Amino acid sequence: MQQIRAIVGTQWGDEGKGKIVDFLAKEADVVVRAQGGNNAGHTVEAFGKVFKLHLIPSGILYKDKLNIIGNGVVIDPESLIQEIENLQKEGISTENLKISDRAHLVMPYHKILDEEQERQRGEDSLGTTKRGIGPAYTDKTERTNLRVCDMLDEEEFVQKLRNVYERKNVILTNVYHKIPMKFGELLEQFMRYGEILKPYITDTIKLLNDSIKAGKKVLLEGAQATMLDLDYGTYPYVTSSHPTVGGFCIGAGIAPKYIQEVVGVVKAYTTRVGKGPFPTELLDKMGDIIREKGREYGTTTGRPRRCGWLDLVVVRYAVLINGIDRIALTKLDTLSGIPKLKICTGYRYEGKVLELFPASLRVAMECEPVYEEFEGWSEEEIKSAKDYDSLPKNAKKYIEFIEKETGAKVWLIGTGPSREDIIVKE
Ligand code: IMP
Repeated sequence: MQQIRAIVGTQWGDEGKGKIVDFLAKEADVVVRAQGGNNAGHTVEAFGKVFKLHLIPSGILYKDKLNIIGNGVVIDPESLIQEIENLQKEGISTENLKISDRAHLVMPYHKILDEEQERQRGEDSLGTTKRGIGPAYTDKTERTNLRVCDMLDEEEFVQKLRNVYERKNVILTNVYHKIPMKFGELLEQFMRYGEILKPYITDTIKLLNDSIKAGKKVLLEGAQATMLDLDYGTYPYVTSSHPTVGGFCIGAGIAPKYIQEVVGVVKAYTTRVGKGPFPTELLDKMGDIIREKGREYGTTTGRPRRCGWLDLVVVRYAVLINGIDRIALTKLDTLSGIPKLKICTGYRYEGKVLELFPASLRVAMECEPVYEEFEGWSEEEIKSAKDYDSLPKNAKKYIEFIEKETGAKVWLIGTGPSREDIIVKE
């Protein structure tokens, strides 16, 4: 592997990045999460068990990898401690986990505000995960948030919390009619979290850059995906971080010039949770078939995911923004048994065909997808295939079409849920 490799979601998240990171982590020494929070949910099947990771990088399932939660992540300490304990219960060591002292905290009021703001939006709600992610990033950019390092310094914590606490209570009580928070309780709670997390907290920027200098191989693990990026996604139906390669540099503390390879994870069809435009969405029986076959229910919230045909307008756009070199195509097996498949290659709008995703949500909602039709393949044909050559002819046609349309080579192909169900094309 190249020394520094980034893995990025190309659609609306839930592409199966956890499994790809788990597979590629084998070759890496360090795995880094750089953005988002516990809104993410990465499912990895290993040692005959299913692991659902939210904040901790998937490399934790290997004993010898260093796992870093970078400065760009927003951390809900309660959720992180729970995740650490769950892994330990399963016999997984968390000794190799390091947390950036610069990462921002998701505070209890962020979660209440997320929930209440969603309720207030009513019909126009964004469909957030209600994990407090948006309000935490809002406070970060407003320059009033508390950070991981503050949990280790009571005086600092008290002073910073004082600055925001009154204001948050006014909003909680007067706007949302909630009971006010108690300063002492919050302080006590976060000092306790700090005590528990202290062994993991460090200057991860130094740690990561020292590792790079020492020639270690680094995997940057994206959470969410390009179409949920605050700048590039379907704003405002996006998350509040930058789940694109540029965001990984900021969120890990790594210079852009070090990133040598970008792997884009593409699910063989498209899904999205939450609201917002989705041009290839299937609102008919076919959407239900894909949802059931692909077990398309949210890892974090359990919500049924919206399902649709593969949209190469979206993938092409992600290739462009992230500089994707190679594609990891996931869940190809979900499409097995469907006689006719479709792939979208463009959006027809006012007599023109758009090849990249438009800024205007109205255009994205009103455009008509242009489809190419493909013949399907059977379940048995995919199950028995152990290398690229033995994949069914029609599946190969499907894959090669993706390569032709996006200009990126398909490298890995997911053919089942288990760690072993991956075909390496080259
Ligand atoms: P938030 O990140 O909770 O603010 O939610 C904003 C939007 O991003 C919603 O549509 C969520 O469903 C979506 N979202 C956030 N995290 C993920 C993820 O890990 N996978 C898929 N969608 C996500």
